[in-house]
Amino acid sequence: MACVGDNTQNPADYREFMAEPPDYVIINRRLWDDDAENWVASGERNWAREPDWGFWGIPETDLGLLPDDMTGMRAIELGCGTAYISAWMARRGAECVGIDNSARQLATAQRLAGEHGIDLALIHGNAETVPIPDETFDFAISEYGAAIWADPYVWVPEAWRLLRPGGVLVFIGAHPLKDMTQPRHGDPSVGRELLYPYFDLHRVDWSEGDEVGTVFNLTISAWMTLFDEVGFDILAYHELRHPTGGTEVVFDVTADWAHDFPAEQVWKLRKREASVSS
Ligand SMILES: C[S@@+](CC[C@H](N)C(=O)[O-])C[C@H]1O[C@@H](n2cnc3c(N)ncnc32)[C@H](O)[C@@H]1O
Repeated sequence: MACVGDNTQNPADYREFMAEPPDYVIINRRLWDDDAENWVASGERNWAREPDWGFWGIPETDLGLLPDDMTGMRAIELGCGTAYISAWMARRGAECVGIDNSARQLATAQRLAGEHGIDLALIHGNAETVPIPDETFDFAISEYGAAIWADPYVWVPEAWRLLRPGGVLVFIGAHPLKDMTQPRHGDPSVGRELLYPYFDLHRVDWSEGDEVGTVFNLTISAWMTLFDEVGFDILAYHELRHPTGGTEVVFDVTADWAHDFPAEQVWKLRKREASVSS
């Protein structure tokens, strides 16, 4: 499924890296290859609809995560899965690349791109090390892709490298409160008790039945320090809320819980322009 065209940077280094990626990349690849068939139906629905965000479908008009007109922009989706966000961006005029760790997820993306007549470049690989030159993109996005499955201390600098100065990175993932209140083994229903220390938040290894996976998150101050050190300015930070509450359960969270606490966070960042030294 590799579709990296002529822009592969140091292909020998890349092949070497991918031959021996970090353990969590291998763990998560197995998980997503095994689970890919369960994401086909939602991928088909998402390809066919207008953008909204998160567990509760917060409208794009409330969050403003995508430029209305992406004509002439180059965009990358980091951990694209079935690549419906790439489809939304392509319909707004962007030229899109999607990278994903799961060949089976990319097979769905490739099929849907064909059915919808949308041209996407899809790369099978790790979003922590993308085989594309520096400053290629105007816009980068991750919705529960690299945003949660890759190490922020690796993928955030990589996203910075890929963006031109002034380029924008948007990502959506679990809020730290969700990671502290969701049991990491067994029944993953999110509760109201703090189960894990906040200040230790980084790598989270979890299991449910036969499934094992690894996700990442940081404390809010650690995210902010990382962005500043890497060279991103924060344009917006959203903690997504269910508007009313209720008994509906989505991804182990009830609407009542998500009315009281943020289950999801959204960061919108801009790559800092190089400062002119005096
Ligand atoms: C919940 S899906 C999110 C993608 C998309 N928004 C969707 O819902 O189809 C998570 C995706 O992240 C991918 N992923 C996990 N780790 C990754 C990594 N290190 N690099 C690239 N993709 C990764 C998985 O293979 C999976 O397709």
